[in-house]
Amino acid sequence: MTSIATTPVNTSHEAARVRSRQLEAELRQDPGRFRVLTGDRPTGPLHVGHLFGTLANRVRLQNLGVEVMVLIADYQTITDRESPASLPADVLGLIADYLAVGIDPDRATIFAHSQVEQLNQLMLPFLSLVSVAEVARNPTVKDEVASAGQAAMSALMFTYPVHQAADILFCHANLVPVGSDQLPHIELTRTIARRFNDRYSPGHRHFPEPEGLLSQAPLILGMDGGKMSKSRGNAIALAASEDETARLIRRAKTDGDREISYEPARRPEVSNLVLLAALCLQRSPEDVAAEVGGGGAGGLKRVLTDALNERLRPLRKRRRELADDPAYLGSVLRAGTERAREIAEATLGDVRELMHNTY
Ligand code: TRP
Repeated sequence: MTSIATTPVNTSHEAARVRSRQLEAELRQDPGRFRVLTGDRPTGPLHVGHLFGTLANRVRLQNLGVEVMVLIADYQTITDRESPASLPADVLGLIADYLAVGIDPDRATIFAHSQVEQLNQLMLPFLSLVSVAEVARNPTVKDEVASAGQAAMSALMFTYPVHQAADILFCHANLVPVGSDQLPHIELTRTIARRFNDRYSPGHRHFPEPEGLLSQAPLILGMDGGKMSKSRGNAIALAASEDETARLIRRAKTDGDREISYEPARRPEVSNLVLLAALCLQRSPEDVAAEVGGGGAGGLKRVLTDALNERLRPLRKRRRELADDPAYLGSVLRAGTERAREIAEATLGDVRELMHNTY
């Protein structure tokens, strides 16, 4: 696999947006030049925010002919979980979500990073290439320090952006779909790749410097107008029943204005419901708002409930069938893990050679 030309990328959102537009054109022209890595922490069922935010994009990239690696970041859950006992069920549930939305295990590689020891071993040389101060500057790490406190934070949490670099570089991925909050992670990964190349592989760029692909997907809020998240109880899971979906939408926050409009800045909660219905119906939000018109919040909620349940019906049916066949889900994970291991083993072998660790 050849990699894309290295263009200087700065972390500013605007520059990343411009570059992402170029990348989209390159993706359409020559999908075979890209290997995409994306992933999720297995912390529970994926929801409609994931569907319209990242899952649909992965399926789109896969269908363009791009190689997609889907990482289940199970090691990232050990820093903030009381008990790991639900992990196996969460991991299989995640795979069911992936396959139900259309990720095709014959084309994409789905794997859990705890099962790929050669990937994890890359963290050692990578840790040697960044300073403590550089890691501490990462905004997500900073947030954690601010909320947990430096003294209470685990060293694994502190170094997790370096682990993420290993997740990306082990397979020489050159493209990582991200939200703008993740751009600093990509920047650190690029720094690690560049320093590794400079120190151990001068003259031949061993690791690509991966680029972030900013999502064009709109942000979907939870039913209370906050960030959609399972832990806030404001998320509609892909696996939720039609009744649960109706219940969650019925309780959704709206405002007192009967006339429904699409004005995200002025009416964020109502506009979010309009947008979600529009995405399901593949129509413009303005159109959907006009159709509900004076029907008020009740009218809007009925339209959204029907639209969402209808949009999710085939996906949910497929998901139920998959969930009934854990042996199949396990076999998908084992096949993906096997492939990830082959890749990681080759990379670690090369890294050992380049670092003169072969005796
Ligand atoms: N941190 C990501 C999340 O919380 C998951 C993840 C782990 C990831 N390693 C990654 C995403 C590498 C992209 C690239 O969802």
